[in-house]
Amino acid sequence: MKNTPDRLLASGIKDALFGEGVTVVQPVNLYGCEIGDQCFIGPFVEIQRSVKIGARTKVQSHSFICELVTIGSDCFIGHGVMFVNDTFQKGGPARGDKSLWKSTQIGNHVSIGSNATILPVSICDHVVIGAGAVVTKSIHEPGVYAGSPARKIK
Ligand SMILES: CC(C)(COP(=O)(O)OP(=O)(O)OC[C@H]1O[C@@H](n2cnc3c(N)ncnc32)[C@H](O)[C@@H]1OP(=O)(O)O)[C@@H](O)C(=O)NCCC(=O)NCCS
Repeated sequence: MKNTPDRLLASGIKDALFGEGVTVVQPVNLYGCEIGDQCFIGPFVEIQRSVKIGARTKVQSHSFICELVTIGSDCFIGHGVMFVNDTFQKGGPARGDKSLWKSTQIGNHVSIGSNATILPVSICDHVVIGAGAVVTKSIHEPGVYAGSPARKIK
């Protein structure tokens, strides 16, 4: 055993593009993503390559936004929201085989409660997702959705 790993990578901001008036609270791990005007990104957030986030969207602390996710404008992503692109469709992780990954599209004016998990789906404009929800299917009608699996409650 040794007291340093053989490979030590630093989190930070790399190859990300920002619009005007964006606030980011360090530490974050943002790389290869595009963050629109006036967005807020809280601490301990990871946003991966190719993610696009529209203007005025707020991403609260501890959320994870993976590759193949697109989020519209005026959205609120609560604390600890987890997006998923690898559904383990072959009985386990894709282990880097991106052909097995699936995408997620979030519309405009979508609010996602803390600790929700969003599997690869599309969510239309003007939707609220409750805290702790697990969204397993696409949502095509505005409304309030909660629970696991998420169902329309209002
Ligand atoms: C989903 C949510 C928007 C619904 O709020 P609401 O419209 O005021 O709904 P109510 O409190 O009247 O609850 C309606 C029903 O849904 C249930 N419910 C509410 N939120 C729920 C949730 N997150 N998961 C599962 N069920 C939920 C309630 O228990 C209630 O059930 P009942 O009719 O059997 O009693 C809200 O509860 C929520 O989860 N907000 C997320 C807030 C958040 O995470 N903010 C982040 C920043 S701090």
